[in-house]
Amino acid sequence: MAHRQLSLPQQRLLLLLVFPMLLSAHYYQKHPRRYDSNEYDEDESVQKVEEDPPFSNLQEEDAYLTVPQLVWKYGYEIEIHEVQTEDGYLLDLYRIAGRRAASGQPPLRPHRNAPIFLMHSLLSSCADWVLMGPGRALGYLLADAGFDVWMGNARGTRYSRKHLHHDPDARAGEFWNFSWHEIGLYDVRALIDHVLNATGAARLHYGGFSQGTMVLFVLLSERPEYSAKLIDMQAISPSVYMYRLEGRIVRTFVTLADPLVAALDAAGRREILPNRRFIAPLVKIVCADGNVTVCRELLYDVAGRNPAQVDDRMLRIFLGHFPAGASLRQLHHFSQIIRTARFAKYSPLRSTGRGGFHASPPAPLYNLTRATVPVVVYYGLNDHVINYRDALQLADEVPNLAAVHQIADRHFTHSDFILAKNSARLLNSILLQELDQYDRRAPRTSGNV
Ligand SMILES: *[C@@H]1O[C@H](CO)[C@@H](O)[C@H](O)[C@H]1NC(C)=O
Ligand SMILES: *[C@@H]1O[C@H](CO)[C@@H](O)[C@H](O)[C@H]1NC(C)=O
Ligand SMILES: *[C@@H]1O[C@H](CO)[C@@H](O)[C@H](O)[C@H]1NC(C)=O
Ligand SMILES: *[C@@H]1O[C@H](CO)[C@@H](O)[C@H](O)[C@H]1NC(C)=O
Repeated sequence: MAHRQLSLPQQRLLLLLVFPMLLSAHYYQKHPRRYDSNEYDEDESVQKVEEDPPFSNLQEEDAYLTVPQLVWKYGYEIEIHEVQTEDGYLLDLYRIAGRRAASGQPPLRPHRNAPIFLMHSLLSSCADWVLMGPGRALGYLLADAGFDVWMGNARGTRYSRKHLHHDPDARAGEFWNFSWHEIGLYDVRALIDHVLNATGAARLHYGGFSQGTMVLFVLLSERPEYSAKLIDMQAISPSVYMYRLEGRIVRTFVTLADPLVAALDAAGRREILPNRRFIAPLVKIVCADGNVTVCRELLYDVAGRNPAQVDDRMLRIFLGHFPAGASLRQLHHFSQIIRTARFAKYSPLRSTGRGGFHASPPAPLYNLTRATVPVVVYYGLNDHVINYRDALQLADEVPNLAAVHQIADRHFTHSDFILAKNSARLLNSILLQELDQYDRRAPRTSGNV
């Protein structure tokens, strides 16, 4: 199928129109919802019993701080490491190396048998692991449980917008010539090696959220020897199969992806949704009302609707950190696996020679059977990004499935894994129990921790 090439002004117009179009398309379709309010009322009374404490100690200024500033502010040790990949990218890797007295609790040093490495989701950063604050966010809970916590940042995100030779702002765009394939193959690999080298550990625990799990499957498919460096993989809402995805905005993007990507690429726009400081104050205004807001509706469409778990201040803080940047190709690659229902490599758009292009031919599949690490899968029944059947299909196909956990709140959505009022109880406490088992069985490493 060939598409006609658009002129530059036409491309700009298209870009200007697409976002409001998506929004209005969404609002017109809003009324026929699957859930009615009675269903929620019923559930809220159940949830009251097992509620986490309120987000009382979080402050609006958290939207403006960097992850190292946040970790330090809340009384934990923070180390900043810079890791160079084989292909020249420079990545920030943050280590929570225990708790200081300033945390309000006794100081604590890591004392577990093995370190844990955490990898974030698409368009996010390692803020995924700390935004909800101490006593709740996984990064702090792990540190409190004695783990040596390492948090990676993928190339192209606000903390890893650096390269030995390529300028991320250069017009040629060489910096942005990557997808999540390269994040798995080069970034995750270099980050894992750095953690093992720095700690003296032989193996580590791996925790990933969404794209953060998929990139490990890429690495293990391409470099199966890396399974030997892992004790276990905690796969939180793993994005490998995504074709049952429900969000209308994302579906619309997937439908339009090829012409949109061609237009953006021709216009030299290969960096998508970078983190910008002026966005956060805007968000504060747009998302201020506790009522139905654009922010909430966007979130509900993309991630799933679960008002009971959404805290407005938490959402505003989150939107100071999200989006954190990605490459155009990364999104295009996502659109391909969603449309084709295949966990496959990237296939570039092919030019027709007349300024148009052909749709992509099928690319080789990643080989999941090489991921021999024990995998623990966590999924939500109301996750609009990773439909529970997609998560279960992956669970079916990994060769060494250790456990599958369905989150007890049956309205649990994609964003709830990192933002929900009760995610400490519903997700993180279960994940800590799993890690505890694996860590007890891991041999103690005499590292320089
Ligand atoms: C982008 O990377 C691919 C390999 O992944 C390479 O074949 C291609 O030449 C690169 N393009 C540019 C513009 O750097
Ligand atoms: C491992 O760490 C040592 C020092 O601790 C350093 O000299 C060496 O270059 C590191 N190796 C890699 C591959 O990072
Ligand atoms: C929501 O909006 C309605 C009408 O616009 C207003 O009456 C109500 O007070 C608002 N509620 C909150 C919590 O802001
Ligand atoms: C996948 O990897 C396994 C183990 O390395 C191998 O036996 C199998 O042939 C591979 N499958 C494909 C389709 O390449």
